[in-house]
Amino acid sequence: MASTRLRTQVAIVGAGPAGLTLACLLHNAGIESVVLESRSRRYVEERIRAGVLEQGTVEVLDAAGVGERMHREGIIHQGIYLQFAGERHRIPLSELADGRAIVIYGQTEVVKDLIEARLNGGLEIRFAVEDVSVEGIETERPLVSFVQDDARFELECDVIAGTDGFHGVCRPAIEQHLRVFSREYPFAWLGILAAAPPSSDELVYAHHERGFALLSLRSPERSRLYLQCAADERLDEWPDSRIWDELHRRVELDGWTLVEGEVLEKGITPMRSFVAEPMAHGRLFLAGDSAHIVPPTGAKGLNLAVADVALLADALIDWYASGSRTGLDQYSASALRRVWRAEHFSYWMTTMLHQLGDDPFDNQLQLSQLRYIVSSEAAARTLAENYVGLPFNRSAAADRSGPALR
Ligand code: FAD
Ligand code: PHB
Repeated sequence: MASTRLRTQVAIVGAGPAGLTLACLLHNAGIESVVLESRSRRYVEERIRAGVLEQGTVEVLDAAGVGERMHREGIIHQGIYLQFAGERHRIPLSELADGRAIVIYGQTEVVKDLIEARLNGGLEIRFAVEDVSVEGIETERPLVSFVQDDARFELECDVIAGTDGFHGVCRPAIEQHLRVFSREYPFAWLGILAAAPPSSDELVYAHHERGFALLSLRSPERSRLYLQCAADERLDEWPDSRIWDELHRRVELDGWTLVEGEVLEKGITPMRSFVAEPMAHGRLFLAGDSAHIVPPTGAKGLNLAVADVALLADALIDWYASGSRTGLDQYSASALRRVWRAEHFSYWMTTMLHQLGDDPFDNQLQLSQLRYIVSSEAAARTLAENYVGLPFNRSAAADRSGPALR
C-alpha cells in the first residue's frame, strides 16, 4: 500500500485525557500537533472511568481553556468519609490541606470538553486509525505510521507523545530501554452507574468484612458505586439485585439509607500498580497510563495523566521557544517523583481498605490504621494532603489558573 506523508511538530498517539490535554496546551502556545486515536469519537466520549479531579487538574484544564462547563457542572467536595466497624467518620480535606478541595466531574465530561475545544478550533483528531507504529525515535525525524479508511499515512514529526494508555503501542516500542515495576492485586472493582441521587453528600470509602465498597457520584441525579469483587469475577454472576444487596450490607448505617435506581452501566476494573522508567527514550515521551497505572482507591489515575502532560507541555514549549532541552531531559525524573508518591498513596489506601485475604492479623492492622487516621490530626492530614494532591508547580498553569476551590 503506498503511503501519504504528513508533517507536524508533535505527534500525539491516543486521545484520552493525557493526549487531548497536551494537544490543547500546545495549541495555546502556538505548537502544532496531530492526535491519532484508535477508537471512535463516541467510544472515547462514553468510556466511564474516573470522577475525582484534584485542584491542580482543575487549574491545568482552566489553563488549557476548557474549564467553563467543569466550573458550572462540577461539584466541589471539601471532605470524604471513611467507614469501618459500623461507624462513618468525616475527613475534612480542605481544613487539613490548606483550603484545597476536589471537584467531582466525570472523565467522560473532561474528554468531551477537550474534544469539542479542539474540533471547534478547526483542529483535527484522527479517530479510528489502525495499525499504528512509531519509528525512528532515536533520530531527529521520528514518524508515526498508521492506516485510516484503508489508506496508509506516515506522520513525520519532531517529537512523539505516547499517550496511548496501558495497552497502547508506544511503551512496547521502547520496552528494551525500560525498567518495569508492577504489582497485581487479588481483587477487582465492580462498578455501576445508577440513575439515583447520591445517598451521601460526600464520597464514602467503606472497609467491611465482606469487602470494600465506595459511594461516589457523577451529578445530583447519578450515583457511581463500587464493590470489591474477585479478580476473575464474571459480570453475568452479578444481576442488579445482587449488587444492591451487597452494597446495602457493606455501607449500611443506622438512620441512613442507600438510594437505589436503575443500573445504567456496569463493569469490572482490574487492580494493578505499574510504573515504567524512564518515561522517555530518544524523541518519544510517555505520559499517563502508558507509563504508569495505580489502583483506583486513591482516585489518582486521571490526575497523574494531566500532571504528566502539564510538565511535558512546558518542556516542549520551552524547547521550541529557546532551543533548551533542559525541561525535556528532566521530564521523566520530575514526573516520576509525583508518580511514585501517587503509587504509594494508592497502594496504601488500597491495602488499608480492601479485604486482603483471610488472615485476621491483616484485618487488625487495617482497623488500627483506620482508627489512627480518624483520631490523629497528623494522620488525617497525611491522607488529606495526598488525596487532594500535591500542588502542580506549573508556571503557566499558576499564571492562568481559574478560581480557587475553597
Ligand atoms: P487513556 O484514558 O487510556 O487514553 C489512551 C487512549 O489511547 C485511549 O483513547 C485509547 O483508545 C487510545 N489508544 C490505545 N492504543 C492506541 C493506538 N495504538 N493508537 C492510537 N490510540 C490508541 N482512575 C480513577 O482515578 N478512578 C477510576 O474510577 C478509574 N476507573 C478506571 C476504569 C478503567 C476500566 C480504566 C482502564 C481506568 C480507570 N481509571 C480510573 C484510570 C483513569 O481513567 C486513567 O488513569 C486515565 O484514563 C488515564 O488517561 P490516559 O489519557 O493516560 O489514558
Ligand atoms: C469515581 O467516582 O469513579 C471514583 C471516585 C473515587 C475513587 C475512584 C473512583 O477513588
